[in-house]
Formats: sequence, C-alpha cells, structure tokens
Amino acid sequence: MPAPEIALTERFQTAFAAAFGPEYADADPIIRPSQFADFQCNAAMGLAKRLGRAPREIAAQIVEAVDLSDLAEAPEIAGPGFLNIHLRTDWIAARTAEIAAPGAALGVPAPERAETVVLDYSAPNVAKEMHVGHLRTTVVGDSIARTLEKLGHTVVRQNHIGDWGTPFGMLIEHLLEVGEDSAEAGLLTTDPNAFYQAARAKFDASEAAEDGETGFAARARRRVATLQSGDAESLRIWTHLVGLSKEYFHRIYDMLDVTLTDADLAGESSYNDQLEAVCADLEADGIARLSDGALCVFPEGFTGRDEQPLPLIIRKSDGGYGYATTDLAALRHRVRDLGADRIGYVVGTAQELHFRMVFTSAREAGWLPEQVQAEHVKIGSVLGEDGKILRTRSGASLRLMALLEEAVAAARAVIDELRPDLPEDERARIAHDIGIGGVKYADLSTAHDSDYTFDLERMLALTGNTAPYLQYAVARIRSIGRKAAAQGVAAGAAPRVQDDAERALALQLLEFGPTLASVGAEFEPHRLCAYLFSLAQAFTSFYEASPILKEADEQVRAGRLALAQLTERVLVEGLDALGVNAPQQM
Ligand code: ARG
Repeated sequence: MPAPEIALTERFQTAFAAAFGPEYADADPIIRPSQFADFQCNAAMGLAKRLGRAPREIAAQIVEAVDLSDLAEAPEIAGPGFLNIHLRTDWIAARTAEIAAPGAALGVPAPERAETVVLDYSAPNVAKEMHVGHLRTTVVGDSIARTLEKLGHTVVRQNHIGDWGTPFGMLIEHLLEVGEDSAEAGLLTTDPNAFYQAARAKFDASEAAEDGETGFAARARRRVATLQSGDAESLRIWTHLVGLSKEYFHRIYDMLDVTLTDADLAGESSYNDQLEAVCADLEADGIARLSDGALCVFPEGFTGRDEQPLPLIIRKSDGGYGYATTDLAALRHRVRDLGADRIGYVVGTAQELHFRMVFTSAREAGWLPEQVQAEHVKIGSVLGEDGKILRTRSGASLRLMALLEEAVAAARAVIDELRPDLPEDERARIAHDIGIGGVKYADLSTAHDSDYTFDLERMLALTGNTAPYLQYAVARIRSIGRKAAAQGVAAGAAPRVQDDAERALALQLLEFGPTLASVGAEFEPHRLCAYLFSLAQAFTSFYEASPILKEADEQVRAGRLALAQLTERVLVEGLDALGVNAPQQM
C-alpha cells in the first residue's frame, strides 16, 4: 500500500485515461495536502484548458470516473474545480500499521534506481579560517549524505580540502621559523586561523620592507616552487603541516557528530599529478586555447563586461594551475573513476559562477555526460546580530571550537534547570546533544541558500522550530513509554487511528516517506525540519486530546501508546537524517 499521494496519483491517472483518452494517463493530478480536506486534486483547471472545456465540467467527469472507494470518500468539487478528498479512516489506520511493521522502514520507499552520489562538502582550507561558513557546508552536506543513504543510495563523500597552492610557501617557511614542535605550531590543531594570520603578517611586513632575496617573502615564493617540483624536504614539512590541520578538522567533526572520516579526504593536492594532463587534453580537443599567454576555456553562454567571452583560466601565463583546473580534474575523476550518477557540491553561494563555468566546460569536454547531474547546493552566509558575516568583536573570524563549546555550555544551563535530578555525566551528555543539535538544526532549518542570523538563545529555545523542541518531544514520548511499561500497558498493539486527533497525527506520520524522498531528490534538508516540526505539533495536539496513561480502556490505551511510539521512531529517524541526536530523557 503506497503513501497517500502516490496511491491517489495512481487512481486519478487511471481515471484521466478512462475519461479523456490514453494520452492523459500521465497527466499530473497535482495532489496536495489541503486545509479543507486531507488532500486536493488540482488537475481539473489544467485539463480543462488542454481539452477546451469548462473546469467544473471536467471536475465532474473526473469524479464520475475515479474509483477511490477503498481509499477515500467520493471527492467534493469546490470553487473553480478543486477536488477535495477525505481519506477513509480505516485506510489510514491500515497504512499506519503497515509503516510501523518491522522491515517497513517507516514508509521510506526503496529507490526506483539506486544511484551513486558523490557529495563534495565541508572542504575547509588547511591553516585557514574554518569559519561558520564551513560549519554550514559541513552540516548541510552531512545531512544530505545521511538522507541519501537512508533512501538506499550509495554516497561517496569527498572532502575537497584546500591543501595546495601558493599560501603553502609562506606557511611552510613560517612553520620552519617557529619550529615544527613549538607552541605556535600547536596552533594548527587548535586555532589554525591564528597560525595563518601570523604567517600572512610576516609575509606582508617582508614585502613592505622590500627585504630582498633573503627576506621572508622571497623565501616563501621560492618554497612554492620547490614544493611543486616535488622537493622531498618541502614535501615532508608540508605533510606535517597538513597533518596538524587534519587533526583539527577531525576534532571539529567529532564534536559535531559528523560522519566524515580521513578516508573521505580528497584534497586539492590529490589532483596535482593530473593537472598537466587536464590542460593537455582540453587543449588537444580544442576546448581550451591560449589567450594572452594563459590557457583558457571559454564555455558557451558566459560573457563578461563588453559582452566579451568569459575565460575559465586553467593554466596561468606563469605556468601555474589554479582552483578551476583542480575542479575539472576532480569532476573527471568523480565521473570516470568513482562512477557518479549525480554530484552535489555543497559550497558557498559566492562560488556560483565558478561552478556553472566548470560544469559547462566539463560538458563541452565530454567529461560530464548528459545523464550525470552536477548540482551546486548553494550555501548562504551566517550573519551576526549586526547583519554582517559573523565575526568576533575584534573583527577576526570566530574560532569554531570556541563557538561550539559556548553552545554546549549554554545547553548545559538549560538542562541543569530542566533536570537537576539527573546525574552529572548524564547532564553533560544531554548538554552536548542539545547544544550541538541546536546549532546544526538552525543551519538545517533555514533554506540552504538563505542567510541567517546566528542567535544561540533562539537555537536552544524549547519552543519553536528548534532541535530542543523536537528532542523534548522525543524525550516526553520515551518517558510515557517507560511509565506505560511500568503500568503494564500491552506493547506491540496496532496504532489506534479513530478519533480526529489520532487521525491527524497518523496522516502526518504517513508523510515521512514522501518527505524524505523529496529531501533526497531536491537536496533540501529544511523541508525535513519543517515536516518534523509539524509532526511534533500534531503529537502535542494528539496528546492533549487523547490521554494515554490516564485512559481507562485497556485497548484504547495500548493503541494510543503504539501511535505515540511510532511518532517517536519517526522523530528519531528524521533527526538522525539531520545528524541530530535525541537524548533518552530531558
Ligand atoms: N576550499 C574551498 C573554500 O573554502 C571549497 C571547496 C569546495 N569544493 C570544490 N570542489 N571546489 O572555499
């Protein structure tokens, strides 16, 4: 038995074919949840246009032709030709029992075709600001990865860290000067941005002083060249430097409960030995050509000022390769070697033009075949209360670990107030789940391409569309479950779906599968957040209207408990797709 909108779609399409001819068999019946009924079919208006007839007449003909008897009442025609559909309560009950059954995956459908999805996310830069912007690409990307896996797809995570390029000359020289085991070097594992800033300051001062061939700036430039030519000592120091940064990334990922591991690292440096071939192949195929000494692709449809074709530079006139060259190499590798059917790039909105040009160039080169989708999942900015990109008061970018620790500390205050009776270590665990969950959920519940304001107080609020609100709903149901077990309420009953509030909650539960499928298809975790929020609200209304522990009738009590526990499972599974933990109690 499929989810309501799927079942309704099938029935209406059969009716369209019968009433208007076989060419109407795949017309979209436009089934939508409705405030006037359970669902609406909004197809009559469009069909009327196609058939050159009056919408209400078409609506009447659809009602005549459609057979919903086991599923719903006969549809009512409203307004210009909307069809209001009331599902039969016994059908909802049967479907609810079905998704609750073991092995039914809560109604999450198996994919029509399991895909290999390469997901490029997080991608911080070595010894550079891993700022709240990277926090957001990390959190959104991880949630998309988890969701796709729950939907039965294969996800190949690719953490395209910035571990190569010109800044490494200055970073290596700085590391040599401070000493590889010094306290300053230790910054790389705690506050890499501070290390970077110090190297940068030295470089800028040296340039300003024009201190000649032995000066820091000149040494840094020479170091870039020796590193790229494969000099063993330079590579050794570089490896040490990158290693310290990786340690830092993984401390952040652990703190965030993010699924990325060392095995997912595929940094810019890993494409270094392919860059020459990328350029040679593109030039040989006539895709790239020299322009002012630089090798460029001019992808179709991109123009700059004066309507001049816009170049994607893949080899600079000094022979150096850049960010775009690496991305073309990575894209070819992902299609050819990793077998991607779909590639998602979870990266800041500012890089939109870059990715459009890279994708178009790769299509022209035949490296990105038509059947493989490449999508830029654009990530908006995180703003401070002043409406500007979030920074500390001194204007430096925020130290990410400090921010996360602050969130956990604030959550600790919430749980200390809520549950002073719990043991210390339990409260510490819960504070982690609430604090980290709160920050992640705030990232996820906003459309990924919108900006949002970082506001810890709102993120940790127990009301509104927040992680703590959903976590609290789960904890509450778990507590009901414990009390019911103590009272001896029978476990494993069929979920009760009879009264209005039970029916409304069950209808929400049936939306989990279709919602998760659309989040995976569209890469839009905020829709899952919106869904879980309305599910938790439906639970609250249900629980106010339908007592469980105080209910006298034993069967009713067991049926309601089963409905509540199905809600718990859906909430926990949905939060897990977001990467948010649900504590046992709160
Ligand atoms: N390291 C880059 C940055 O911080 C993001 C890399 C995104 N992925 C890619 N394939 N270009 O801006």
